[in-house]
Amino acid sequence: MTQDELKDAVAAAALDEIRPLLGQDVVIGIGTGSTADRFIDKLAALSGDFRGAVASSEASAQRLRGHGIDVFELNETGTVPVYVDGADEVNTHLQMIKGGGAALTREKVVAACAQRFVCIADGSKRVERLGDFPLPVEVIPMARSYVARELVKLGADPAYREGVITDNGNQILDCYEFMIDDPLAMEARLNAIVGVVTNGLFAARGADVLLLGTEQGVERLTPQ
Ligand code: 5RP
Repeated sequence: MTQDELKDAVAAAALDEIRPLLGQDVVIGIGTGSTADRFIDKLAALSGDFRGAVASSEASAQRLRGHGIDVFELNETGTVPVYVDGADEVNTHLQMIKGGGAALTREKVVAACAQRFVCIADGSKRVERLGDFPLPVEVIPMARSYVARELVKLGADPAYREGVITDNGNQILDCYEFMIDDPLAMEARLNAIVGVVTNGLFAARGADVLLLGTEQGVERLTPQ
């Protein structure tokens, strides 16, 4: 199977996963990226079965609206029963690296407000140790050089993602050569650097369920 077929398979499995949670008053959380896009496209078939969605990016909001799905502000909805999103890497504890699409901050905010986080990913995203994928860090533009120097002190090789402005008007530093032994501690440590808005480690709030696309079918995994 191709990677795209695996993404389609997990998007379809996510639809089955959330179906029992839907209802006319229900607003669900939706992530960002190519896997989340496939989920949004499949969700269109159920658009009459729920109230709408909170999106983790302008791109996803636009895609949802394109399917006639109402998009709500998180400040209006409060918590959401479920958040469905992809990942760049995920380990057995269902801790993740996210932010390849630069939407990490809004993704983390919606995830924080979700009663359940369903991660959808093709098998290539599954790792023993997080860090081969360069960890994104969103920074306030004026703090970019300072934060980069602090990241070097922690052992990372940060690179400015040129030409990318986040939906929040900020910039991204991608941390190369940065294998992570203790994701929970590193998430907190990076957040403590002045000028960092968010980092792409999702350890404090990992996923509750991972739907992983493999050649053998979609595996449903929970945190080890
Ligand atoms: C966007 C993200 C995405 O979830 C992550 O990059 C995975 O993307 P894709 O589904 O395209 O592989 O965190 O900021």
